[in-house]
Amino acid sequence: MQQTLNRRMLEFISASPSPFHTVYTVSALLQHAGFTPLPRGSAWNLEKGKGYYLTINDSTLIALRIPSGTPEGFVMSASHSDSPTFKLKECPQHTAAGHYLQLSVERYGGMLMAPWFDRPLGVAGRVLTEQDGCITSHLVHIDQDLAVIPSVAIHMNRTANDGFKYNAAVDTQPLYAVGTDSPSLLSLAAQAAHVEEEDILGHDLYLTCRSRGTVAGASHELMIAPRLDDLACAFSCLQGFLNAAPSDAIAVYCLFDNEEVGSETKQGAASTLLRDTLRRAVFSLGYGEEDFQRFLASSFLVSADNAHARHPNHPELCDSENTPYLNGGIVIKYNANQRYTTDGISAALMRSICLMANVPVQTFANRSDMTGGSTLGSIANTTVPVQTVDIGLAQLAMHSACETMGTTDLRYLVQAMTTLYSKSLHLRSDGSWCWR
Ligand code: CO
Repeated sequence: MQQTLNRRMLEFISASPSPFHTVYTVSALLQHAGFTPLPRGSAWNLEKGKGYYLTINDSTLIALRIPSGTPEGFVMSASHSDSPTFKLKECPQHTAAGHYLQLSVERYGGMLMAPWFDRPLGVAGRVLTEQDGCITSHLVHIDQDLAVIPSVAIHMNRTANDGFKYNAAVDTQPLYAVGTDSPSLLSLAAQAAHVEEEDILGHDLYLTCRSRGTVAGASHELMIAPRLDDLACAFSCLQGFLNAAPSDAIAVYCLFDNEEVGSETKQGAASTLLRDTLRRAVFSLGYGEEDFQRFLASSFLVSADNAHARHPNHPELCDSENTPYLNGGIVIKYNANQRYTTDGISAALMRSICLMANVPVQTFANRSDMTGGSTLGSIANTTVPVQTVDIGLAQLAMHSACETMGTTDLRYLVQAMTTLYSKSLHLRSDGSWCWR
């Protein structure tokens, strides 16, 4: 089972070189499982006992499974479809040193820059074409080793190993052709999308790390791959969502774009998208605002985004006790200032799910003199106020071009999410919470 899971995870990552591809990949898996796409611009007529999904901007997705009886509330997960990378500018190329063609890129999100050097890079995303006044989106994956960001040789920078400050306007522009009469980047993108270059009126194209994900380690306990943050959670939550037994809750699977740049976009977790979609679904089922509010009271959200494992070379960067290891189980993340949403109730609710699923739990809190990151949970809570826990899988080298996690953890998250999505949460009148 572990080997099959590893293989499917790696296939999922290579099929998802951009957020648009991630949503496409997830949509295909949902359709295969019998879910129906919901048109955003038409009236919805949801039926009990069926599954649906909505895509927004082709880069965010919300899937819903409606119970056959009266819903108890929502049981939800949220992960993200984007990863730190470089985005191609509108004029995507320039001549360099009179003899080369380079891609013109700017940073997307907070990546570690050094690991992007000296690796085969590709380009993926979408192009928009016009025909008869209609704009159509086409997925693009230029499926070849296309470009490289070359390091400066040690002979020309003798202090390179003492730390180097990268300038994004100078050091990280990728080389993609020698000689200035080579095919333009947009002509390659047009070819990959099977469209005419002159029909392209817009694009959203990103560099993609072409390194093949792999299973490594003495006992095959490591996975090294691009975009593990957050495709590992996106994949595992989806497996749990699809594997789960029917429950009395409306099961909701969310995949948000733009987490790496703060989520404050129309397709980000800070928009009203999740709230709007949940209300729309509830109303379509014949319930009203009062029912919606009642459902929120008995709802649970798992915000699933990877966590920092204790680093073998730098254990001092972590809290001494609240620090996870690879393959140690699901990580519950805590922060006093609520950059992570977890509190006593949501931690207890998640721990009880993990107990039922026979999955170990670890904890993460920043060293008290470090601020650390934030993620989807507290952002989504501003419009969807429900019990929420922040979790993740322990990983090393977060936001590097290639990241490392533990393979067993993948199985743990699938098990936990399968159990979670098979339950509904009930808030009793005495104030206690029950999984049913
Ligand atoms: Co993340």
